[in-house]
Amino acid sequence: MIITKDYTQLSERAAELIIDHMKNNPSLVLGAATGDTPKGTYTQLIKKLNKEDLDLSEIKTVNLDEYVGLVSEHSQSYWTYMKEYLYNPLNLSYNQAIIPNGKAEDLHKECERYEQEINRLGGIDLQILGIGRNGHIGFNEPYTPFDSRTHVVQLTENTRKANARFFTGEEEVPERAITVGISTIMKSKSIVLLASGQEKASAVQAVLNGQVDGAWPATILNNHPDVTFIVDEAAKNG
Ligand code: GLP
Repeated sequence: MIITKDYTQLSERAAELIIDHMKNNPSLVLGAATGDTPKGTYTQLIKKLNKEDLDLSEIKTVNLDEYVGLVSEHSQSYWTYMKEYLYNPLNLSYNQAIIPNGKAEDLHKECERYEQEINRLGGIDLQILGIGRNGHIGFNEPYTPFDSRTHVVQLTENTRKANARFFTGEEEVPERAITVGISTIMKSKSIVLLASGQEKASAVQAVLNGQVDGAWPATILNNHPDVTFIVDEAAKNG
């Protein structure tokens, strides 16, 4: 566990860790998270990569989730996020991005396709995770079975409220999403969980207690052999 004094330091540490993985594995499969927390990490990553001479053309990113019903061009789709925070600044080819299609006609087939796609890539090498206030990872809400694979979820009211800040209002937040499952996340070779700010303190506390508890999905990470928690003091101490 790495405790940083603030969000900037958290972002720097996370970016350094990602770059180490990129250096060791030019065809890294990077599990990408969205939300506010990783934005600083991506910004630092871009800054640091601009000073390095790394070939990123063989790297793939695999997103954790996507809203159901948003076209990929929607300003709040996670594909738009990826383009803005990673793909365009790094000049990556869009072919390197794997992301669920929230507009798929058959969502269950889409989930199956996504799971197979991850397997075809040999699994996720390094999974970046944020954490919801209720301890969710990806969009795996409390009591999602730990053996879940990619699936469609009904978002809880709390999560829709928390994400309303990205939309014009809560009613604009989609009710459903596609998310990789908890077992999909747990199969990643390495995991980094980022938590910043006081409002994450209860979830962080649950994880650091060490007990695995379905009420706080992120607690399952205690069973993973290679996980790094990077949390700032506010998230650690409340
Ligand atoms: C969203 C995402 C998660 C993210 C979490 C926390 O609902 N699906 O992947 O980790 O909420 O987001 P934030 O970092 O904005 O607090």
